[in-house]
Amino acid sequence: MGKKILVLHGPNLNLLGEREPEIYGKMTLAQIDEMLRGEAKKLGAELTIFQSNHEGEIVDQIQKQGKPHDGILINAASLTHTSIAVRDALVFTGKPVVEVHLSNVMKREEFRHHSFLSDIAVGVIMGFGPASYRLGLEALVETLSAKR
Ligand code: DQA
Repeated sequence: MGKKILVLHGPNLNLLGEREPEIYGKMTLAQIDEMLRGEAKKLGAELTIFQSNHEGEIVDQIQKQGKPHDGILINAASLTHTSIAVRDALVFTGKPVVEVHLSNVMKREEFRHHSFLSDIAVGVIMGFGPASYRLGLEALVETLSAKR
């Protein structure tokens, strides 16, 4: 049966396309979501996609939607580096998590080098621009299929 994947985008990712394009590229979030939906179709997966600039809304969404989904693909953006609340909510779901970033955060400021999510994630994909999401989705679906 097709896997149900919850895709979460954190703060400021709604600005993609106009936000620091030299770092994040020119693709808008709507275009990334469209690409992901196309990829999901190929993989036979079903996506629920949510973006918020508010930590509490992301936590609420993980609490409500985590359990009814099979896995979570998340770019928590700046919350990656600050949010124990997002981490705790992800742990609560008990579902496999794949962390993605457009940029290679290890090449950037030191405050981006720490993630509160990486050690509870199945894996992390970063630095490939929008393709990080596609690769992350593939990796998550493959992980879930291996579990069958
Ligand atoms: C990001 C990297 C974060 O450090 C930053 O705060 C973001 C985007 C990325 O996708 O490269 O907002 O998660």
